[in-house]
Amino acid sequence: MYVGSIDQGTTSSRFIIFNKAGEIISVGQKEHQQIYPQAGWVEHDSHEIWKNTQEVIGLALGKANLSAKDLAAVGITNQRETTVVWNKKTGKAYYNAIVWQDTRVGSELAELAKDGGMDRFRAKTGLPLATYFSGLKLRWLLTNIEGLRADAEKGDALFGTMDTFIAWHLTGGVDGGIHITDVTNASRTQLMDLQTCAWDEEILNVLSIPKAMLPEIKSSSLVYAKAKGVLGGVPLAGILGDQQAALVGQTCFNPGQGKNTYGTGCFLLMNTGTKAIPSQFGLLTTVAYQLGNEPVHYALEGSVAITGALVQWLRDNLGIIKHSPDIEKLAKLVDDNGGCYFVPAFSGLYAPYWKQDARGALVGLTRYINKSHIARAALEATAFQTWEVLEAMEKDAGIPIASLRVDGGMVVNQLLMQFQSDIIGEEVICPKIIETTALGAAYAAGLAVGYWANLDDLRKNWGIAHTWKPAMDSDKRAHYRKQWKKAVAKTFDWED
Ligand code: G3P
Repeated sequence: MYVGSIDQGTTSSRFIIFNKAGEIISVGQKEHQQIYPQAGWVEHDSHEIWKNTQEVIGLALGKANLSAKDLAAVGITNQRETTVVWNKKTGKAYYNAIVWQDTRVGSELAELAKDGGMDRFRAKTGLPLATYFSGLKLRWLLTNIEGLRADAEKGDALFGTMDTFIAWHLTGGVDGGIHITDVTNASRTQLMDLQTCAWDEEILNVLSIPKAMLPEIKSSSLVYAKAKGVLGGVPLAGILGDQQAALVGQTCFNPGQGKNTYGTGCFLLMNTGTKAIPSQFGLLTTVAYQLGNEPVHYALEGSVAITGALVQWLRDNLGIIKHSPDIEKLAKLVDDNGGCYFVPAFSGLYAPYWKQDARGALVGLTRYINKSHIARAALEATAFQTWEVLEAMEKDAGIPIASLRVDGGMVVNQLLMQFQSDIIGEEVICPKIIETTALGAAYAAGLAVGYWANLDDLRKNWGIAHTWKPAMDSDKRAHYRKQWKKAVAKTFDWED
């Protein structure tokens, strides 16, 4: 028997089948369209995503000559915060899914901050007011889509992040699909109280969000229901937001253990145990996971909006590379960045700055700079942003981080990983299985059905594939860090 994991990410949907050792047996993957109706807006077609999800499930099962009967359980992991609203009688979405990177609610932040400042919901939710989280996206939909509020009040319109949307479809959709989310995804809506793990009436009132449209909040590892259709009969038994899933996939179960995932953005999470630690240095306090009926575990998180997405931007918008992996070859043609720094504040700046009106900047340009320097600066931007988050994490947690566990698509980039180690001045460690996001959701589902007995079973699966050690002298590192901070300061207050 195996365990399946649906990984519904920002750029693609995948289905990955794992064995007991946490090894990949089969993968199906399909990209979906990125829709940019205007500057700062990012949308997905949720129906396309559900169609792709079913396709990739079929694809992965077919490749390995397996059927639903071979799966002991299935888990879901997803791009977090992305917000969709649909009608429970027709299954039709009222509007495209509004993606986490979307900044359309930016102009509402100042108004909301008048009463209590940007941190007015932070004590309860662990999150500052920002364009990032689901609550304000949902409010935008309720205000701007005709008829939606009335349907929501009747209980006909359902809200969900992508986990909720997929779980509803997977368990029957209009024919009795369940309307649930897990504590990790709920903690990203800015509508959930971190201590009680229930929807917060006061915030719902302030934002005028009808409770009837919200899903039930569940543990991350529990048999929720049996799937229908393409995975007919398989218990749906795990749900985790993708960054929390990677934390579980990296088996960071002890307080102080953390990981950094390099995807569209970068997300560094550190397990803080059963205590929610408030941040003073620009991080988020969030739910890490809840396994069965055990106490909720929390994490501190540093979220960086644009890292891998910058490589895609160089590919799609500037055309200086043909395929994303070509960036490394191009960057290697030069020895350093030639003095140029690229701050990709395309969706404002997230952690540790939380400046929604920052915009991207390429600075330090001279006639000497060529496209290789720009490629190099783009890769270095990922490492610099991670360093700044790590710095905040050390201050908030009060302990130095001795090494960084990494995963995600960009860790195959040797130049980036070496520069990462150089710029933080610590070891960077990559595990054998880098698909930790999908693995984490598989672990959550497998634990719930007894496929894996306990956390030690999972820890045994973790092993090191590669370690990068810092090789840069400290003066050079200090110079790079100083120049980066100067470059970041140039992006502030750009948007009117
Ligand atoms: O918070 C956003 C994050 O969950 C997106 O992750 O891997 O889909 O870019 P990813």
